[in-house]
Amino acid sequence: MAELVPVQPFDIVIFGATGDLAQGKLLPALFHRWCDGQIPAESRIVAAARDAMSAEEFRALTAARVAPDGTVAERREAFAKFARLIDYVAVDVSDGGSGWGELEAALAGGESKIRLFYLALPPSLYGPVCGAIAKHGLRTASSRIVLEKPIGHDFHSAREINRRVGEVFPEDSIFRIDHYLGKETVQNLLILRFANFLFEPLWNANGIDHVQITVAETVGAGRRASYYDTAGALRDMVQNHLLQLMCLVAMEPPSSLDADPVRTEKLKVLRALKPVTQESVARSVVRGQYRGGVIEGEPVPGYSEELGAKSRTETFVALRAEIGNWRWAGVPFYLRTGKRMAERRSEIIVQFKQVPHDVVAADHGRPHPNRLVIRLQPDEGVKLMLMTKDPGPGGVRLRYVPLNLSFAETFTKDYPDAYERLLMAVVRGNLALFMRGDEVEAAWRWTDRVIAAWQDGQSELYPYAAGTDGPTQAALLLERDGREWF
Ligand code: NDP
Ligand code: BG6
Repeated sequence: MAELVPVQPFDIVIFGATGDLAQGKLLPALFHRWCDGQIPAESRIVAAARDAMSAEEFRALTAARVAPDGTVAERREAFAKFARLIDYVAVDVSDGGSGWGELEAALAGGESKIRLFYLALPPSLYGPVCGAIAKHGLRTASSRIVLEKPIGHDFHSAREINRRVGEVFPEDSIFRIDHYLGKETVQNLLILRFANFLFEPLWNANGIDHVQITVAETVGAGRRASYYDTAGALRDMVQNHLLQLMCLVAMEPPSSLDADPVRTEKLKVLRALKPVTQESVARSVVRGQYRGGVIEGEPVPGYSEELGAKSRTETFVALRAEIGNWRWAGVPFYLRTGKRMAERRSEIIVQFKQVPHDVVAADHGRPHPNRLVIRLQPDEGVKLMLMTKDPGPGGVRLRYVPLNLSFAETFTKDYPDAYERLLMAVVRGNLALFMRGDEVEAAWRWTDRVIAAWQDGQSELYPYAAGTDGPTQAALLLERDGREWF
């Protein structure tokens, strides 16, 4: 597998190293890549956060998350070796903060290596931290910076972040992560579309009836409730993950899979999104918030109870978007995401048009339109629903069956998770899996209009019971168009 080729030695500074993202995703991802022999021994991980603690204490904190007591001894031993790469420095990255001299000392001697700064921090600190990196001379010629989503909380704050980061780092060293772009099936979508002849001639308003993109989660806001309450599902999921998926489905064929051809085509989709109005938002966007309910047999509290306060933040959004260009004229893209839903399921469904004429008698069954189902998680795979003849005697009877490509059954090898792949892509300098600044801003421009319509009091917040498919109004959104969610 190409991914197992070792990368060049690097130093990575993880700002926010004690936080949920660093502990839950980044350090485990680095550990897994190290276990697979991809990270050279000369590499270093410099963890940074405000808490004062020794490197030993930080390693113990991380071990408790990544290889806790009770995991197999082999993993604990491997972690003990990996942990030798890790140092810890207490740094306050806010303006005028302390600890930068110590960070400089920790990085000394690594000037010729690739240097990564990973900002696992609240986005309001992205500007100050870049200013401090420049002020303390920490940016080397081969430095790269990684920004987590959401980049800002609206168009203006995103533009300001892009401006401040851009004062220190050139665009080709800025890696804006949307971890959905690192998922195996999401990457495969481009190959499916552009390395097969089959789909492209039909991939437009002539062949496609509509597209559905669902990212349903069973988890609630949980430990991140205080952040989540300032964001909501639209900012947290739609502005980035769902719009990125939509771009990959809707974009024109790029000249290559290099970074700029792909990113330019995605940008064109975002810019072609039909602008929303207050009236269209009231009609085409459904907001919901979960109440208590039952998930997988367990009772779970409602959002307000989890948060400990009443809130009007949405934990569910369903919307109908349209792309105003020749290819997609009149084809709705239905996007839906929510927390505490009935099942964890992320899927892109492309519904083709009905055949123009029935060749079999109606009492032998009606043909269903072909449907391409791209399952991102769990059970990654691609399924093409086709009409066939039910086998056996008794004349022609139609049957709707899947042509099924299950990744687990077809590919026996394990592949790295999204963060593992993306971190290695940053070390390699491969920008194709990351968002360009103008893409992020274009996505915010559209999202801001929806938020503005909500703030003008045009939006209801519909309750839904945890463990369901969201508010019934989401079903009505499609029913009105004579369609249903799959
Ligand atoms: P947390 O609140 O869990 O962690 C924030 C980290 O930042 C802590 O280590 C905190 O440590 C540190 N920090 C805060 N203020 C400062 C400061 N002034 N100087 C230095 N360090 C500081 O947040 P998350 O880990 O959840 O999120 C981090 C970023 O990643 C956010 O932008 C978030 O939106 C994004 N993200 C997170 C995901 C997740 O699954 N958690 C998923 C996708 C994106 P201390 O307070 O000790 O300094
Ligand atoms: C993050 C969101 O970006 O994606 C979270 O901030 C969400 O709220 C998560 O839970 C979902 O990611 P995944 O990979 O578990 O689908």
